[in-house]
Amino acid sequence: MPAFSKPIHFAQQVLKNCIGTGDCVVDATLGNGHDALFLANLVGEKGTVIGFDVQAAAVQSATLRMQEHDVTQFNFYQLGHEKMAEVIPEECLPLAAVMFNLGYLPNADKSLITKEYTTLMALDVAQVLLKAGGVISLMCYPGHEGGDTESEAVSEWAASLPREGFRVAKYALHNAPNNPPFLLLIEKLK
Ligand SMILES: C[S@@+](CC[C@H](N)C(=O)[O-])C[C@H]1O[C@@H](n2cnc3c(N)ncnc32)[C@H](O)[C@@H]1O
Repeated sequence: MPAFSKPIHFAQQVLKNCIGTGDCVVDATLGNGHDALFLANLVGEKGTVIGFDVQAAAVQSATLRMQEHDVTQFNFYQLGHEKMAEVIPEECLPLAAVMFNLGYLPNADKSLITKEYTTLMALDVAQVLLKAGGVISLMCYPGHEGGDTESEAVSEWAASLPREGFRVAKYALHNAPNNPPFLLLIEKLK
């Protein structure tokens, strides 16, 4: 057992600290639904996971994963995360957490990646919808084409958040090869 974990596992440890049963949370990039299932286990039967992906295949795959695990407390949308404010019901607000896992759907079309412009739009919306004490976690992958500029842009966006309103952390395995993934954690303070 290593003394400290990979970025995605570190994100999970932090999310466990800020999500409780009955909370509403968002998976902004559903993909195959691994993160959504993780979130569903934290919010429990009384909570809600709202999920977004632009690809029908991802929404289907994530839905299947939830069904296979007898999870019912979810609402998934085939919709860009930048539009989340249009569909999240009032009673779900404010959110306890918003989880982003950028990049492409594994084992699918690698040209369908998250894009800097819409990711930044979604982050602007997410930080408003978050409750005090809530967290945005953002896995960034600078190692693929397009991922480099997106990762740099979201890192700059996070660094520019005002210190009186947000705490921002960046975590990576620093000596890993080939532009390793990194995690941004954004806690809303008030
Ligand atoms: C790395 S995968 C997510 C992995 C996923 N969280 C899981 O647990 O399997 C990134 C996903 O973001 C999706 N995506 C791309 N642009 C998006 C957008 N504007 N809004 C929501 N999802 C988007 C892709 O279709 C892809 O499925």
